[in-house]
Amino acid sequence: MPGSRIDYKPYDDNTQLARYIDRYPLSFTRTPLAPLVPRPLTLSERTGPIASDQFALGPMDLSRAAADAPRATGQLIQISGRITDEDGSPIPNAVVEIWQANSAGKYIHDADRHNAPVDPNFTGEGRLMTDAEGQFQFFSIKPGAYPVLESGWWWRPPHIHFSILGRSWMDRFVTQIFFPGEPLNETDLLLNAVPDRDVRERLIFQFEGTSMGEVNAMGFRRDFVLRGRRQTPELD
Ligand SMILES: [Fe+2]
Repeated sequence: MPGSRIDYKPYDDNTQLARYIDRYPLSFTRTPLAPLVPRPLTLSERTGPIASDQFALGPMDLSRAAADAPRATGQLIQISGRITDEDGSPIPNAVVEIWQANSAGKYIHDADRHNAPVDPNFTGEGRLMTDAEGQFQFFSIKPGAYPVLESGWWWRPPHIHFSILGRSWMDRFVTQIFFPGEPLNETDLLLNAVPDRDVRERLIFQFEGTSMGEVNAMGFRRDFVLRGRRQTPELD
């Protein structure tokens, strides 16, 4: 329709994860071997209601396994951010799924063979929704670093995984966000597989300072742009 066309500016490949990552033999498993097949959303996917009442609304507390349970071991952190489209419009009611290792660098997952302790007070999983301004906020425990055992040398720096679902279940954005000032950020094969150094900053939390009083926590912020030239790189 004339006048209502969205001026979409696609991103530069240097701002996203490289298809082949040097020294990472399994990197080919992370990207499709064949060209992607366009799959337009159907009318029902674009207009249908989502069952938003199933999801907890923020702020949310991942630092405890249950609301009245003891706090998990580790540094309490408060994470906040805002999710927008390429033109800066907020994405309200986006479902944000979070998963992370505990403070010792251990996931609750059968595939995790790292000999670090599981914390009975920490699940490392959460789900919340953005508000009308596209904002989200939650408490958690700062994750620990962990080794990629089959590599023989590579340790993943502390990071939190994010999955953001838009209006349709077909709209899923997946990435990992890192902490500022971590020495392992310099050697991480995934973070450094985004060739553009400035764009890698979009994958690192900004330190927001400390809160003191009823809640003592370190604050971090990360805003997400879901497409276009300012898009946050996707790391699955
Ligand atoms: Fe991870």
